Amino acid sequence: MARRQFIAGNWKMNKTPNETVELINALKEKVAGINEVDVLVCPPFTALPKAMDAAAGTDIDVGAQNVHWEESGAFTGEISAPMLTELGVNCAIVGHSERRQYFAETDETVNNRTKAALEGGLHPIVCVGESLEQREADQTTSVVKRQFENGLGNLSADEIQQLTIAYEPVWAIGTGKTATPDQAQEMHACLRSLLEENYGAGIADKVRILYGGSVKSKNAAELLSQQDIDGALVGGASLKPEEFEGIVAAARS
Ligand code: 13P
Repeated sequence: MARRQFIAGNWKMNKTPNETVELINALKEKVAGINEVDVLVCPPFTALPKAMDAAAGTDIDVGAQNVHWEESGAFTGEISAPMLTELGVNCAIVGHSERRQYFAETDETVNNRTKAALEGGLHPIVCVGESLEQREADQTTSVVKRQFENGLGNLSADEIQQLTIAYEPVWAIGTGKTATPDQAQEMHACLRSLLEENYGAGIADKVRILYGGSVKSKNAAELLSQQDIDGALVGGASLKPEEFEGIVAAARS
């Protein structure tokens, strides 16, 4: 089954609300009228209202970079699903490696966030991926398997179809070192077979798996041509309109 390509920009801690409007305006011109590819940008929380306005009526969707598992309460600094959906935001990144690395995110909290996002009407993009140390110790498959099983293994068949998985090897993030298309495909195939074991072949065939880690316009086509790579989660290059345009163009071809 052909899965629709999905290019998502994770802006991380970049862009004020006004800068967000400028960047979305620049992107609008570049990716206008793209029907065959889903395009998403994820600015910081503070820029989401302006981002929603700037992207209204375009083919660009707007997502958040995280979401908490409770709807409200004493969780200083956190943002809940209803706070996002009231703005019209319908997607949130969950479990990014920077959250795991710097903010004590665990498989358990990833699971809690994912379930709350789904219950709250958000489409989660759930990130998994090994560190360099784990790859060098030959633990890549076991780490990704553990992240999948503990983070996603207890969802219903209905729920798993509402989300996207992103495979982001930590050593490839922001380093300029991309996984080779073969290395990425190997892990995407591994994730697809975990989906199959847990949820059956029909569902495994439907769930999109994005690759993330130093995706640029010049390496996108080769990565996206791999059988189990259904799009990209783009960091640095999503802040440069020409680069992002090139990646979206690669997804169309
Ligand atoms: P870079 O594209 O900057 O390597 O970041 C990837 C990433 O972390 C996307 O979530």
